[in-house]
Amino acid sequence: MIKRTPSRWGGGVALLWNGVEAKDVLRNLFNVGAVSYVNSPYFEFDSARNGLFHFLKSHGIGKGDKVAVLLFTCDAVTDAILDLGCDIVFYSCDKQLENGRIPETTNPPKVIIEQVTFGRRSLNDEILQKYVAQGSIIVCDKSLSYGPNDFTADATVKYPTLFSFEASKSLTVGWGGILALPHAQSKEFSKYYDTLRKVDTISDLHRNIVLYLNAANIKNGSKVKFLFWLLASALRLKRRSSRSSMAYSRSHSRPGKRTSQLLQTTLASAEEKLFLSNAIHDDLKKHLEENGFQVISSVDVSCSTPRITFICENNRNCLIAKLAEHNVECGTWFDLPPVDQRVWSLPDGWENMFSKYLNLPCHYTLTSEKVSKIKEAINEFTS
Ligand SMILES: Cc1ncc(COP(=O)(O)O)c(C=O)c1O
Repeated sequence: MIKRTPSRWGGGVALLWNGVEAKDVLRNLFNVGAVSYVNSPYFEFDSARNGLFHFLKSHGIGKGDKVAVLLFTCDAVTDAILDLGCDIVFYSCDKQLENGRIPETTNPPKVIIEQVTFGRRSLNDEILQKYVAQGSIIVCDKSLSYGPNDFTADATVKYPTLFSFEASKSLTVGWGGILALPHAQSKEFSKYYDTLRKVDTISDLHRNIVLYLNAANIKNGSKVKFLFWLLASALRLKRRSSRSSMAYSRSHSRPGKRTSQLLQTTLASAEEKLFLSNAIHDDLKKHLEENGFQVISSVDVSCSTPRITFICENNRNCLIAKLAEHNVECGTWFDLPPVDQRVWSLPDGWENMFSKYLNLPCHYTLTSEKVSKIKEAINEFTS
């Protein structure tokens, strides 16, 4: 398995971390110009994983229930499921991250998670409908791949759908998630949702300050800024995944007032930002393809991605090193199954799903200079 290459200096961190506009955070801190963006069947959470946890809990899903999960996923998903005491049934998909095959079992899984990964749907409608007919609950995880049309005023969803606004996603508020429900299901869930507690004001303010410091400090990184970043992390003023505060965030799963306002401000301009990100994706896609790489991610009005994803099976480490020389952060998500392979049975040929993909940023905040820098690094590697 490939070892993750750490970012070099601030430049690399900046490319990775170009996920938030510091001025948006500042505006929210002082509560200036926050817009009220109402999309009624959307429920806000402090993370997508908590949205999943509570949605399943509200349906009485718990100990011993089988939940089908795409193997190529993040441990945030499996953490939420394991905390409920459920059993995971992993399913695999093809090289394009599509056409997932749910293992045949005597009883169908209680829950099936369809994952949209870098714009690719893991399960097709035919399979989903087959399992709906057998009583399975379907959840669509669009954490990595929501698109411009998902946040327009008239957006609706077919299945309960999760969106994440964690720092590495297309849009971010540092931590944050949304569960969107079909109209028919939203009334019942509201009752459960109203019983959940909000993140308290101090923690919420702390999150916003941390986010501002990170966004302001790391944007257009330099060595000096990187030293500040290290200092901030030593003082715990660094963004941390909500997993590190799981016990707290399970009981306080709704975002506080400020995070919620930031989320609403962010959603109000989501469409425009995601279209920008899609344009950068397609520009980089053309370049990667001209250089002989097969691009896997796919974007359109219903899907965006924070990272353009392509196949690189040979000389992966050389390419990662070349990109790092140019201060370009290269992601290897997901390079391992999400949970301990010795404990869970994995689908046959599971190794084929890993150590194949690389990803590069295509976030809307990337300037044309940064996009050129990425292209240059690729040119150098292939020449
Ligand atoms: C595919 C996928 N689903 C869900 C999540 C959970 O998102 P959050 O960090 O908001 O809990 C992640 C997080 O990275 C993810 O990659």
